[in-house]
Amino acid sequence: MPIWFMRQAGRYLPEFREIRKNNLDFIKLCLNSNLVKEITLQPLKRFHLDAAIIFSDILMIPYGLGQEVVFKKGIGPMLGILNPDNILNTNPEDFVKKLFPVYEGIKKVKSELKNKNLIGFVGAPWTLLLYMLNRESPKNNFDFNKINKDKVLVKKLLIKIEEIICLHIDKQIEAGADTIQIFDSWAGLLPVKELPIYCYIPILKIVEHVKSKNVPVICFPKGIGDNYIDFCNTVKPDCISIDYDVDPLWIKEKVNGIPVQGGLDPKILLEEKEVIKKNIEKYLNIFKNYPYIFNLGHGVLPETKPETVEYMIKIVREKK
Ligand code: CP3
Repeated sequence: MPIWFMRQAGRYLPEFREIRKNNLDFIKLCLNSNLVKEITLQPLKRFHLDAAIIFSDILMIPYGLGQEVVFKKGIGPMLGILNPDNILNTNPEDFVKKLFPVYEGIKKVKSELKNKNLIGFVGAPWTLLLYMLNRESPKNNFDFNKINKDKVLVKKLLIKIEEIICLHIDKQIEAGADTIQIFDSWAGLLPVKELPIYCYIPILKIVEHVKSKNVPVICFPKGIGDNYIDFCNTVKPDCISIDYDVDPLWIKEKVNGIPVQGGLDPKILLEEKEVIKKNIEKYLNIFKNYPYIFNLGHGVLPETKPETVEYMIKIVREKK
């Protein structure tokens, strides 16, 4: 059973915090190809993992489109005022030039990774549109009708974002990414009747683009509950990444054989060992004879002890 974790490189690792301490500008850090390589490889040096996920961020796309992005400690990402003309007129060559160090970082990681999968990723159109228009995490403040007020602008932005996502994917593949994961972290905020327009159809276009390059694609439409099945029937990803609210037994029975990834609540890793073991084994037993990638239902939390990650991997590896 393959194993990797979302946010496997990040603040729960002291060696990441050490680098971060001296690199307070997060976007600049994502544009330092030597540090991108080093951070991406940090979890692979410590743990027996099957894949590396490139150290970057979904908000590198708004940055590449000319919108200011800063990460504020304790608040999260803050985006600058959106200038629609600037965004819509960004030409692809300028975008690629701005993000060039990201692709250089992928090349550098690739040259050191032997027999391991390198995962590239993008934010889904809806999640990116949401950050670009909301300008901060919707955790702090969100109103769908406000986002959707200027429907003509929303439509134009979505088309531009889809085009740039495909370009960003192409460049990651050219640089050495073996698999692409699409994060629709805020799909769960969409009113159900809007899911086809904002989530399924835009992601379907991107999935078809990735498939046309013969590269496998994993989708993570976080928070859509029962609609995971509609999502899979429409989008047909190579693998579906489930969040911690999805019943693993239910998805296995309903999803028509599509490989499944993840599910374990990252908060479980803050519990005692016995609780952790019991919860891991639940997923291992359910997906025993099913194509399954071991992962979490969202990213590793910063409070997680590296020893706990080690323990989790041991349990998964030892299970027959
Ligand atoms: O998974 C990995 O190890 C690869 C790296 C990765 C990062 N961000 C690094 C990061 C990936 C895949 C992402 C994706 C991402 N970024 C998503 C989708 C996945 C998800 O979590 O839902 C989203 C929504 C973002 C936007 C983002 N980036 C937020 C909301 C934040 C701040 C919140 C937080 O956790 O601090 C980030 C910052 C960020 N991206 C960090 C890392 C390691 C923490 C930066 C720090 O050191 O302060």
